[in-house]
Amino acid sequence: MSIYEIRVPGKICFGAGCTETMGEEATKIGAKRALIVTDPGVYKTGVIDPVKEILSKAKLSVDVFSEAEPEPSYSKLNATAEEIRKNNYDLVVGIGGGSSIDTAKGLSLLFAHGGIGQDYGGVEKIPGPCVPVFACPTTAGTGSEVTNIAVFDDRERGLKQGIVSNYLLARVAFVDPTLTYGCPAKVTAASGMDALIHAIEGYTGNKANTFSDVVALKAMPLIVGSLRKAVKNGSDKEARNRMSEGALLAGMAFMNSGCAAVHALAFPLGSQFHVPHGVANAVLLPYVTECNLSSNLPRYATVAKMLGVKTEGLSNQEAAEKGLAAAKALAADIGIPTHLRELGVPKEALEGLATATMNVTRLLANNPKELTLDDVRGIWENAW
Ligand SMILES: [Fe+2]
Repeated sequence: MSIYEIRVPGKICFGAGCTETMGEEATKIGAKRALIVTDPGVYKTGVIDPVKEILSKAKLSVDVFSEAEPEPSYSKLNATAEEIRKNNYDLVVGIGGGSSIDTAKGLSLLFAHGGIGQDYGGVEKIPGPCVPVFACPTTAGTGSEVTNIAVFDDRERGLKQGIVSNYLLARVAFVDPTLTYGCPAKVTAASGMDALIHAIEGYTGNKANTFSDVVALKAMPLIVGSLRKAVKNGSDKEARNRMSEGALLAGMAFMNSGCAAVHALAFPLGSQFHVPHGVANAVLLPYVTECNLSSNLPRYATVAKMLGVKTEGLSNQEAAEKGLAAAKALAADIGIPTHLRELGVPKEALEGLATATMNVTRLLANNPKELTLDDVRGIWENAW
């Protein structure tokens, strides 16, 4: 039997309205000075004010930093930490999509340990606990609220890098679906596909284990059964609630087994062409899966079943192919582009993207098929 670890936040609160308990949780850890981190779009929706009030009622002083960038960069992270470090925050509350929560994690790291973000890039480079983080997703997708990773764009080097450390796990994740009710359709679609891919890669990857299997297999039908509805009608609360729960479980799946080649290709695409993370993954999924299928047929056949394919009487090959078709149909129904050229990627860029992909070794190592540079070139060409 292989050894595996289960890593989850200190606590996860799930359910509509669960952020109301944030004041109690802040009091329990003795927090006095909170910084809420969000982005301008989320700030405008008005979801920050009630949270601010909850924390103020619990007698915390609260500041709001509402300038988190999409696809956050080290340069902005470092400048922000430098500017506000003097306020001695003892709680950082990330409210938003993955980029706001990653920025919150990055700030909590730099507040506690100083230096610049790049000092901690890579795996387990953080020397000790960071300032506690409460993570509150406003999209159902990235899973950042339950992961030990924060991803930053190193613009000077033209690559995205993950800071990976268990010290980045949130003290409490508040997964409150009401925070996603105002999420626009396009973001709902892209982040929902990202969540589905977390479950698929977490389940088919080399490091899959009993725990990641349980949460991935529960996540897939929740997401597939509700994503179309949540995109079509954002006020469908039941669909939103199921998406939040599915994305939470999918986040725990990839946190405990790992993502693979879809994410490995999405990294350079996001960094070089500023394609949002969920869109990059969703466009690439079918092409990576086509290449991977034969390496893990039984698991891709199970994925097909989870995606609603009637697999009785089918061979694993047939089931897996139908699963791939089901994933493509879902992406098409919710308006995801089918090719890279629709995203403004020029054909001449493919070779550079292929070379950059080969450097994302942490994720490629978890891919069920060991990919050569030629395999990766082929995937990029097909996706173009
Ligand atoms: Fe992702």
